[in-house]
Amino acid sequence: MEEEQVIRTDLCSSGKEKPQADQLEFGRIFTDHMFLMDFTDDKGWHDPRIVPYEPLSIDPSAMVFHYGQSVFEGMKAYRTPDEDAQLFRPQRNFKRMNHSNSRLCIPPIDEAFALKALKQLIGLEKDWIPEAEGTSLYIRPFIISTEPYLGVSPSSHYKFIIILSPVGAYYKEGINPVKIAVEHEYVRTVKGGTGEAKTGGNYAASLKAQELAEDGIAQVLWLDGVDRKYIEEVGSMNVFFKIDGKVVTPALNGSILEGVTRNSVIQLLKYWNVPVEERRLSLEEVVTAHKDGKLEEAFGAGTAAVISPISQLVRGDKHLEINQGKTGTIAKRLYDTLTGIQYGKIQDPFDWIEKV
Ligand code: COI
Repeated sequence: MEEEQVIRTDLCSSGKEKPQADQLEFGRIFTDHMFLMDFTDDKGWHDPRIVPYEPLSIDPSAMVFHYGQSVFEGMKAYRTPDEDAQLFRPQRNFKRMNHSNSRLCIPPIDEAFALKALKQLIGLEKDWIPEAEGTSLYIRPFIISTEPYLGVSPSSHYKFIIILSPVGAYYKEGINPVKIAVEHEYVRTVKGGTGEAKTGGNYAASLKAQELAEDGIAQVLWLDGVDRKYIEEVGSMNVFFKIDGKVVTPALNGSILEGVTRNSVIQLLKYWNVPVEERRLSLEEVVTAHKDGKLEEAFGAGTAAVISPISQLVRGDKHLEINQGKTGTIAKRLYDTLTGIQYGKIQDPFDWIEKV
């Protein structure tokens, strides 16, 4: 068996000021240290280290700057009432990272080793996990291609990095319902593209529609790229609609990102015996259900957004109000249960929690 690599640590002595709860936005403040590891064709993944957080020095010809060969993940560390730090299903994120790696021709990481490195980093930065309700330490693992070369081919050099950011709510609305615009002109991806991989290009492709959306729109809802009829996802979260007593979410079809929160929501609904369906869902079906008074609620689910109720779907000049713009019962129950488990306030019947 290959010998496990030792994580070298180079700690900084002077800590940065920790933010006050009211200064916490999403992803603007970073902790004192980061994890790094390099890949070269001859050595594989090597030199794992925890070092002070600082700018990287990278060759301007590094392939990531030109062709976008990169992947990332998003997860969170939570502070429990006993002052412990815990993670939520981190194994699934590293598994998904390897799925994205495979699509982007990036060499796989050792998932167990990545989790060990993450725990070591969080252990060191535990004091950065904020305490206020609804806050957490956001974890951003990512891999970039660093070979200095302008040819279009998979890179032979990479960096795997993990940075940490104390965060508040992702949307400025917090857990209050958000308005979502249905996108008609642009598409995010198509089956066979990179939609089910977590790669920066998908997010770059989503910016134009977001920029054109009217003021007060939190995000856009993507339809499928071929028929432009079927609901796929909102760029930063998967979506669920409660129609006539059943919760429906678009089935994974090769262009939708498989969210860890999405999977947890489905498992919770099944556990509660709430009917849940993963299937093709057209926008027309949602509009008709609304017209017939059968669209009971809608919400998004994602690591950054947690559970985000949807108050309105906006299509051009049509505003379709859902549940009188209020948070629905299922969304509220899911939010309370998921965050209760994540923050160690309620029992975890699924074994989702990983102590640091
Ligand atoms: C997450 O929910 O962690 C994500 O990665 C979405 C993000 C683009 C903020």
